[in-house]
Amino acid sequence: MKKKNKIGVKVSNSSILILNSSLSVAVVGVGYVGLVTAACLAKMGHRVVAVDSDPKKIDLLKKGRIPIFEEGLEPMVKETMRTGRLRFAHRLADVLEEVTVVFICVGTPPRASGDADLSAIEQVTREIAEHMKTYKLIVGKSTVPVKTGEWIKRTMEIYGKTHAEYDVASNPEFTREGAAVEDFMKPDRIVIGVETKRAEDLLRRLYQPLQAKILMTNIPTAELIKHASNSFLAMKISYINVLAQLCEKTGADITHIAEGMGLDPRIGSAFLKTGPGYGGFCFPKDAQAFIAIAEKLGYSFELMKQVELINHSQKEFVFKKIEKALWVLKGKTIGVWGLAFKANTDDVRLSPAMDIIRLLQQEGAVIKAFDPAAMERAKDELPDLKTVATAYEAVKGADALVVLTEWKAFEQVNWSKVKSLLKTPIVVDARNLYDPKEMARLGFHYTSIGRP
Ligand code: UGA
Repeated sequence: MKKKNKIGVKVSNSSILILNSSLSVAVVGVGYVGLVTAACLAKMGHRVVAVDSDPKKIDLLKKGRIPIFEEGLEPMVKETMRTGRLRFAHRLADVLEEVTVVFICVGTPPRASGDADLSAIEQVTREIAEHMKTYKLIVGKSTVPVKTGEWIKRTMEIYGKTHAEYDVASNPEFTREGAAVEDFMKPDRIVIGVETKRAEDLLRRLYQPLQAKILMTNIPTAELIKHASNSFLAMKISYINVLAQLCEKTGADITHIAEGMGLDPRIGSAFLKTGPGYGGFCFPKDAQAFIAIAEKLGYSFELMKQVELINHSQKEFVFKKIEKALWVLKGKTIGVWGLAFKANTDDVRLSPAMDIIRLLQQEGAVIKAFDPAAMERAKDELPDLKTVATAYEAVKGADALVVLTEWKAFEQVNWSKVKSLLKTPIVVDARNLYDPKEMARLGFHYTSIGRP
């Protein structure tokens, strides 16, 4: 049943609708950030047109085909397309005059030096500058170094062809892959960096239906909050991973240590799970970029450099565990469960699982891998990787099972079947999914991380 709340927004269990204050928005870039932003803003009632320089992606989306796997995204894109609130277009210039707000959600991949490649952002800004005829609010949502807002303004000044007014804003995203739609619709905070009241009012209006906590600040602060948050979380993970290594030398249990620390509300229990190190396209590149940003600002960020080093060594640590469990790797077959950098995503970019597989292959091990969602993408990176259709097939005739991603599906295992399929009952669990005592009782040589 729908009911009206205080601000005149209709709220039902499954939908949030603006009644009368919808805005016209362009979202540039239809990757993980852009497509989620476009679909969610459309779901909130705004009129959204998403554009991308890759015509193939746009053509697919126009046919209702979603190029990425993200929980809840496909139905939302289809629904908002059906209602006409979400459209796709090839060129920003063609739709620019229809919109007031332009979200820049293009990629900012790392360069060899570690800092972010901002050429796509410059390109979009130039396009806006050259084609706009009426007021635009240009919002940076891609993860960018502090001061990017200033560069966007400068670019607007240099390439601007009219005297039309514009504002620049920063609105970093804090959504996690695999839970991006939910994170977007139920954010714990919305961070907005602005310079004018007009920009502030527009963005407050845009996010009004979510009724979330908004932190309104200046542009460099908003830009820094993003890097500061991701780097802090990466630091927590590296911290717990070092502790896990210490646990192994002392007989302590990392699970209880994390619990004992996490119960202190000043520390918090989130992001204290040990594993094969953090991966994905955010933490590794953002940590690197933050180091590069600090360097440019004259500070050598030794703390984050250590965080990175620890993360790198964690993959070696897992590899060494597998080597220790099997002694000789050459010629051995290893059944691997998990390729994605974490559960609930098909993303294998900078996945620790992929790095560990590479190390095993270098030593001559034969890998048979299974992942519920990431096998196709893994093949793009490692074309020779043998993948199989089920988790059980991966262990058939293998010398060991190695678990590298924490998919829920890997928690419900028929262990007697696994044991009968494995050549030797060796299990290395890099995600601490199973109970060591139970695994020993079942007759497995079981190794996990930081647990006695
Ligand atoms: C991360 C942040 O959590 C988001 O807030 C942010 O918006 C996003 O980056 C981004 O910058 O776009 P994401 O990369 O999707 O999100 O993944 P997380 O769930 O944060 O996990 C990152 C990595 O840390 C994964 O490899 C995961 O396995 C690892 N991790 C996470 C741990 O090893 N231990 C933990 O306790 C938590």
